[in-house]
Amino acid sequence: MRYSEASALQAEALKKKEHVRILSLETSCDETAAAVIEDGRNILSNVVFSQIDLHELYGGVVPEIASRAHMEACDRVVDEALKAAGMTLQETDALAVTYGPGLVGALLTGVNCMKGLAYAAGKPLVAVNHIEGHVSANFLTHPELKPPFLCLVVSGGHSHLVEVRDYGVYRLLGQTVDDAAGEAFDKAARVLGLPYPGGPRIDALAEEGDPHYLVLPKPRVEGLYDYSFSGVKTAFLNAVHGMEQRGETLRKADLAASFREAVCSQLTEKAEQLLRNRKENGERPAMAMAGGVSANRELRRQMTAVCEKLDVPLYMPRLDLCTDNGAMIGSAAYYRLMNGETAGLDLNAVPALRLVE
Ligand code: KG4
Ligand code: ZN
Repeated sequence: MRYSEASALQAEALKKKEHVRILSLETSCDETAAAVIEDGRNILSNVVFSQIDLHELYGGVVPEIASRAHMEACDRVVDEALKAAGMTLQETDALAVTYGPGLVGALLTGVNCMKGLAYAAGKPLVAVNHIEGHVSANFLTHPELKPPFLCLVVSGGHSHLVEVRDYGVYRLLGQTVDDAAGEAFDKAARVLGLPYPGGPRIDALAEEGDPHYLVLPKPRVEGLYDYSFSGVKTAFLNAVHGMEQRGETLRKADLAASFREAVCSQLTEKAEQLLRNRKENGERPAMAMAGGVSANRELRRQMTAVCEKLDVPLYMPRLDLCTDNGAMIGSAAYYRLMNGETAGLDLNAVPALRLVE
């Protein structure tokens, strides 16, 4: 029997199995991460090998270095995840891997590694969208959370407002028309001389600063729930360069706090607008957050305040599950697998994969 037919039969049988354990791998950017997840909700193990120190010297992720480092780390990280879960490869029920969006070489390393393991072990393979993984980090943190809910997805490459209608079923309500929020944070951090990745550094520095020190422009965007961060970023870069040219000492904490405020207030205001509109329509929405930027302290505070004010339940991933990890991929894979979705050995990396077509 061909691999794909056998996978389909196994996936069908797994629908009736009491517990389904998935070994997952994530290599879309600069973390090599593997996990074993039970029933899409329980983390049996979660191993993250970060490449940050390899890229720090260059101020950002160098794709070739990332692919090579993934290649070197993949097997070890997968073995560690199995070991930490107390399982062998044969004892897992299925394998999962991120196939996009992300860096093509980095993705390919993971896809090839898991295709090889899945074929050798005779296990079904599930292809996972990285952004769906970020959304699913909420299922690992909040056992009671079920679709439908709204989700603010903010990462290094994406800033989306989506409606999660069902597991794996999304409606895109708004998105950034230019830079992603995380990208803007990273660029602002770089101009302040902070090391890569800048988002968490700006966030930490901002805690000590005055958010009203520098007034940044509010963008005008056409779409009701669309975002724009490039104007804020440029205004910030120009202001900092001006200060440097005038020989002024940079008040980094105040600058970081002002930038963080501009980004977070824009994200929160659109989310608030969406929630208000839904409530006016007689709906009882629930709100979630996902992606690296959802670890931002100010964003978490502002979203908490808005949701409390509007009496809307808010779900945020555990801090370590906001940034890239394998656990979120294993959670997303579970619901795809239960829907009978398995990948063939012709699975390829899709660097520009979208969450919603
Ligand atoms: O989701 P993620 O780990 O990777 C992508 O899928 O892109 O997001 C990484 C991004 C980076 O831009 C990083 O600077 C940003 O998330 N980030 C933060 C914080 N933690 C991570 N940005 C602002 N505040 C944070 N605390
Ligand atoms: Zn990510």
